[in-house]
Amino acid sequence: MSTLLSLRHLTKRFGGLVAVDDVSFDVAGGSIVGLIGPNGAGKTTVFNLITGNYRADAGDVIFENRSIRKLPTHQIVSLGIARTFQTIRLFLKLSVIENVLAGCHCRMRSGSLAAMFRTPAQRREEREALQIALAELDFVGLTPHAEQLAENLSYGNQRLLEVARALATRPRFIILDEPAGGMNDQETDNLIRTIQSVRDRGITVLLIEHDMSLVMKACEHLVVLENGAKIAEGPPRQIKSDPKVIEAYLGPEEDA
Ligand SMILES: Nc1ncnc2c1ncn2[C@@H]1O[C@H](COP(=O)(O)OP(=O)(O)O)[C@@H](O)[C@H]1O
Ligand SMILES: [Mg+2]
Repeated sequence: MSTLLSLRHLTKRFGGLVAVDDVSFDVAGGSIVGLIGPNGAGKTTVFNLITGNYRADAGDVIFENRSIRKLPTHQIVSLGIARTFQTIRLFLKLSVIENVLAGCHCRMRSGSLAAMFRTPAQRREEREALQIALAELDFVGLTPHAEQLAENLSYGNQRLLEVARALATRPRFIILDEPAGGMNDQETDNLIRTIQSVRDRGITVLLIEHDMSLVMKACEHLVVLENGAKIAEGPPRQIKSDPKVIEAYLGPEEDA
């Protein structure tokens, strides 16, 4: 498997705090990688550096062999990187299908002039967008809820809707920030299957997760952060028995 994303000596400071401290790791194309670590370890900040929401103070983000460190977020999306947020960010007063369409619109080519005059090209794009949105809703199992307002979905379904919206941007790489947050066990199992199906479509997955059983089941490779620095990386079984990780993350009372 070749490397899709490569973080090289990435560093981000907030005032005196080094939130991300010289972090390097690779994400192989076609894999499901988990980024784990205690609260405040710097996981979300790493995501914000990848997506251009934050600028790195040092280091580089290489996607498909090119540096994306200085690109604006919309350009990063158009290269094929999509994300979901730790705190759900949906248009709560819009319907479920409209929320997914918002993802499609990130990738549409027609400009606002075309939108004003509704050219044939624009109408074709709208039709294609609707097809993509319906397909992604179906993929995450939310078709029965298509016409509901997003605010009326359960918390777990709102998280799935965020995944559908991210997929509607047609990514090659998707990053999920605590996708199982607020889900019950059954919803989490369903989410793991959905994440595996995403990968089976050829989309590489990087996820942040607190739920250790989820990362153990879903990920092939784990990267562990503590206090902004990478303390371990490897296959889940190895990480689970790494004394440094147990001390930092699982806590000494955990069954490793
Ligand atoms: N925008 C910001 N301004 C100041 N400090 C921040 C900001 N974002 C994150 N931090 C700090 O950086 C550290 C890492 O945060 P974060 O990346 O959210 O951790 P994690 O996602 O692993 O819980 C924390 O100490 C947090 O308070
Ligand atoms: Mg976080």
